[in-house]
Amino acid sequence: MEKKKYYITTPIYYPSANFHIGHCYTTVIADAIARFKKLEGYDVFFLTGSDEHGLKIQKKAEEAGVTPKEYVDKIIDDAKDLWKSLDINYDKFIRTTDDYHKETVQKIFKKLYDQGDIYKGEYKGLYCTPCESFWTESQLVDGKCPDCGRDVNMVSEEAYFFRLSKYQDRLVEYIESHPEFIEPVSRKNEMINNFIKPGLEDLCVSRTTFNWGIPVTFDSKHIVYVWIDALSNYISALGYLGRDDSLFKKYWPADLHIVGKEIVRFHTIIWPCILMALDLPLPKQIFGHGWLVINGGKISKSLGNYRDPREYIKEYGVDAIRYYLLREVPFGSDGTFSEDLLITRYNTDLANTVGNLVNRTLSMLNKYFEGVVVNSNVETEFDKDLISLVEGTKAKVQSYMDKLEIPEALDSIFDIFRRCNKYIDETAPWALAKEDNKDRLKNVLYNLLESIRVGAILLEPFLINTSKEILRQLNTKKTGYDTIDKFGTLEEGIKINDFKPIFMRIEKKNEQE
Ligand code: MSP
Repeated sequence: MEKKKYYITTPIYYPSANFHIGHCYTTVIADAIARFKKLEGYDVFFLTGSDEHGLKIQKKAEEAGVTPKEYVDKIIDDAKDLWKSLDINYDKFIRTTDDYHKETVQKIFKKLYDQGDIYKGEYKGLYCTPCESFWTESQLVDGKCPDCGRDVNMVSEEAYFFRLSKYQDRLVEYIESHPEFIEPVSRKNEMINNFIKPGLEDLCVSRTTFNWGIPVTFDSKHIVYVWIDALSNYISALGYLGRDDSLFKKYWPADLHIVGKEIVRFHTIIWPCILMALDLPLPKQIFGHGWLVINGGKISKSLGNYRDPREYIKEYGVDAIRYYLLREVPFGSDGTFSEDLLITRYNTDLANTVGNLVNRTLSMLNKYFEGVVVNSNVETEFDKDLISLVEGTKAKVQSYMDKLEIPEALDSIFDIFRRCNKYIDETAPWALAKEDNKDRLKNVLYNLLESIRVGAILLEPFLINTSKEILRQLNTKKTGYDTIDKFGTLEEGIKINDFKPIFMRIEKKNEQE
């Protein structure tokens, strides 16, 4: 049977020398969803990349005395290194400076122009000459340029426009008849009431005041400006209007665009209208997540709260960082990143709940049965409760993941580990050993090991290394997603591997003092 396809994307990132933990948030979540869908048997395509054009980059390159391309090349290598250190397993990394992308954007621009959806007009705006930037009234700070604080002038410039207004009614109708199109629902209401219903204005889609961008083929003093260039990555990456469009035929429309809340507007208004103009189906869902903040504010170098995410990874391990990003904040809401909370999460959930459980259980198996997995059929009421929870968890995780309730999905896996810890208290294996009740002891340890195996397999999309390491320690060959439907699949007679605690408790800095 042919696998069902699943196409998931992150936004393409502005090359910035300061990738921070907030940037990692979108990508880690998309990665976990992509891995989960793969585990469920989907044919997944996971796209990420970089958004490399624009005046800002051109200027930074000039300051650095290199070409814009040289400037971005270096940063992109660094971004790829960051994604690798976070175990991000994307299928493709698109750069808007890639030739195939540029060609597709040029073809899209020409097609929209030929069919009358793009027209030439005049762009009027408040312009800061030293910064070469247009600003809107609301962006100004005390009536001055928000970047440099100098005066701005009203100027006009020849520019091309996309007829966004023409698609307004179709867009509203589409959003209203597809309730799952924009999630969470609060963002959907905001888009309709604050942005679409008051009226869409045609969108300026070209510039002549700088040249680091994709040239308009039929009018070379213009470059394509921002959104047509950036948003088209989702289809150019698949070969749309290119030499080989087989991926496009297979994967489009996207199943999920994950984006931060500040760019929901572009993805739910401009992007669908461009797609309607191109006569293409719309993505199935755009999910706008919240922001990670530090001490209630943005993460930035100038605020002094910026650290390279790789420093955190070095200090706490990649799974601890992934766990925090996936678990701490309800998906869709804003949340806090702090090392203090990270350490608390780490100690409570990773070190105490999972790490300690696995270590205790394997130690008991070593002590009482020389590390060999054995079973017997002495069951008590405690077992039933544990077994039914373990058997029911896969369905629970699936249902949470379908709703993109990622912290809840992870938490339901941790319910297994918490239930195991309670089971140890209930069954008191050390007392069974003392009484020499070997049969019951075998059964208790088997139930624990089997529950741990199921939990480890379910953890795989989220905490890759932890999952692998637990399964390695167990020395089981039963590691497939299809082996956890029925309790009792762990092989009897296997001998566990060498083991040590997977997570060591971290003392908080002030506690050490
Ligand atoms: N280049 C555009 C996207 C174009 S998509 C066709 C862009 N790039 S960005 O680098 O500024 O942001 C990339 C993503 O990182 C966005 O989804 C943004 O919301 C996310 N984040 C940046 N800072 C963030 C936090 N502090 N917290 C969570 N996500 C944040 O926008």
